[in-house]
Amino acid sequence: MKIAHIIPTYNEKENIAKMIDIINSITERHSTWTSDIIVVDDYSPDGTSSIVKKLQKKYKNVFLLSKKKEGLGKALIKGYDYAVKTLHADVVIPNDADFQWNPEDFPKLIERIENGFDVVVASRHVKGGKVIGWNWFRNLNHNVSNTLLAWWVAGVHEVKDHAGNFKAIRVKGVLDKVRLQNMKNAGFSFQLHILYELSKTGARFYEVPVTFKEREYGKSKIGFNKYYLRDIVEYIKSSLLIRYDRSRVFSKYFLVGAVGFILQTLISKLIITGRINPGLAVAIGAEGAIISNFTLNNYWTFSHKKINGIRLLSKFLQFNLASAGAILIQGFAVGTGTYVYGNQTWFIFMVLSIVLLVIPYSYFIYNNFIWKSPKNK
Ligand code: GDD
Ligand code: MN
Repeated sequence: MKIAHIIPTYNEKENIAKMIDIINSITERHSTWTSDIIVVDDYSPDGTSSIVKKLQKKYKNVFLLSKKKEGLGKALIKGYDYAVKTLHADVVIPNDADFQWNPEDFPKLIERIENGFDVVVASRHVKGGKVIGWNWFRNLNHNVSNTLLAWWVAGVHEVKDHAGNFKAIRVKGVLDKVRLQNMKNAGFSFQLHILYELSKTGARFYEVPVTFKEREYGKSKIGFNKYYLRDIVEYIKSSLLIRYDRSRVFSKYFLVGAVGFILQTLISKLIITGRINPGLAVAIGAEGAIISNFTLNNYWTFSHKKINGIRLLSKFLQFNLASAGAILIQGFAVGTGTYVYGNQTWFIFMVLSIVLLVIPYSYFIYNNFIWKSPKNK
């Protein structure tokens, strides 16, 4: 397995050599792994890059990308891109240079990749994970971005820790499907954005509990400084864009449903005018709508999680079952409604049950069962 470690650096002269040594010594213990180490440095004034250049004489697997100071996001985009397009890595592992995420945990991430997961995130928010030493300000910042924005506003539910850098990502069929060149994040909103882009590839996510500790050497670059406002505004913007992108899925789903409804009505009408039993006619119409809904949703609404091949059959059966559920819901709602308010109210109750019950019900089932992103839980 060809692994590319990506380390963004800005003034990390106390840390970078030790980081490279540790990654290389861990790799040596695993005969089936090779490691490249990409350092993305923004011309650190402290001379981080000259330390890296010295190490390049000792290690042939160290790559230095130097660029102007643009923020963590831009540095990571450049590093990911280099790992995928130039080094043709199988797995990329970004990490900070400062040992807040313990680099010795990286084999635990790889292990899950070897088990078949595609994006394995080092996490502070699953059982066994923790943070040591954050003050109230750092905590508040993290809760606003991680819980309020990433989880609630953006609606990224594949993982619980959206903010960290340390993770392992499979390239083939996953990261190579993400259009990195279209990502414009300058700051830490990159972390949320990349998780979202990865989720759209249908990747399987896993969170490994780890401890996030304090920095021993050097200073943190993220926090209340001149980039703070820019980064927060970008984070809010990113969260809203993700929410908007997700709502496009809902709009397509809604349109597909409307087409299905019209189709069902048309087919039923056509058949009823022929000499067929009206009950049978409506049933045929319903199956027509089901086929249309399933096909349009698979190739349009949920095209990013398209079902292919032999699974189409079992999923189509599941879809029929879900649709039967929708019919039962409507039957029950119209039945009870007309029982209380009289038969002439059937149409109101049908529309109400579709809008209030069937649309949310089907959307939930499609997202979580039919076109679900596979997860570990
Ligand atoms: N090239 C480059 N350019 N590297 C940068 C820049 C930049 O503008 N800003 C920060 N870095 C590097 C740092 O040198 C370090 O290796 C890493 O990115 C993380 O920066 P820290 O200064 O240590 O920030 P932190 O401890 O607050 O980072 C935490 O929050 C980030 C955002 O949520 C960690 O959880 C990170 O993993 C996380 O990405
Ligand atoms: Mn740090």
